[in-house]
Amino acid sequence: MRLKGKVIVVAGAGGIGNELARRYAGEGAAIVLGDIDGAAAKTVAAEITGSGGNAVGTALDGADDASVRAAVDLAVSRFGGLDGFHANFACFRDGENGEDVLGLPLEAYDDVMRVNARGFVLCTRRAVPAMLARGGGSMVYTGSGAVYLGETVRVAYAMSKAAVHALMRHVAHRFGPNGIRANVIAPGVITHRRFQEVVPPDVAEAFKAQTAIRRLGSPSDIAAMGALLMSEEGRYITGQVISVDGGATLRP
Ligand SMILES: NC(=O)c1ccc[n+]([C@@H]2O[C@H](COP(=O)([O-])OP(=O)(O)OC[C@H]3O[C@@H](n4cnc5c(N)ncnc54)[C@H](O)[C@@H]3O)[C@@H](O)[C@H]2O)c1
Repeated sequence: MRLKGKVIVVAGAGGIGNELARRYAGEGAAIVLGDIDGAAAKTVAAEITGSGGNAVGTALDGADDASVRAAVDLAVSRFGGLDGFHANFACFRDGENGEDVLGLPLEAYDDVMRVNARGFVLCTRRAVPAMLARGGGSMVYTGSGAVYLGETVRVAYAMSKAAVHALMRHVAHRFGPNGIRANVIAPGVITHRRFQEVVPPDVAEAFKAQTAIRRLGSPSDIAAMGALLMSEEGRYITGQVISVDGGATLRP
């Protein structure tokens, strides 16, 4: 129950986000779970509430300022304030056709940057003031090991996630004196139902072979790190990009 009494917005449900919400609620936090698929977020929030947790689901477009503001306002009005914000949603559009930078449609580039980079800026601009009003808090951003890998596809995705490193460091330094911590979790390959729907088994096996511990990650591996960063136990961790990837990147 390390998060008892805390209020956390999880922006972006799905494979990892649902587990973040379950874990944070399981540790005692009150949760606003938002997703562009509002019905899916509400289903998971209801499941959390049904098993004794405290959560509300809502439609959230993380790339839309009014929508992000509404999610933060919901946390404040329903639960009394904001202590943590986990920006987790992502647009993967540039990976769909396997294009390199030469063939990448610029509309796909713009879309990925608009959602993943600009959207996380919007989340920061709405979450930080609410956390300052509370005397501090924890911003956690979901990044990606794709930043380091130099993949031959989805260059916009990797660029958008690299941009979040700079945003996070800015927030950590600028608002650290005011009690705000900021960190990026960079997952390796994390398997869940949606992932299994789009990634063939032989490709998943190849990903597994790239890890030091020879297994793919699970959403609970990411949620465990998120819970630490949201909790007082993580109070001296800020300004970091933390890889949670089974050793796939083996770099500082
Ligand atoms: N699964 C992996 O292997 C992996 C690896 C590295 C990084 N990540 C990162 O983890 C995060 C979660 O990914 P996931 O694997 O759970 O994928 P997912 O597709 O299961 O979840 C992503 C969620 O984001 C939502 N979303 C998309 N656009 C949105 C918007 N504009 N506003 C609000 N919600 C929006 C989707 O509806 C979906 O529920 C992403 O940031 C992703 O880049 C995942």
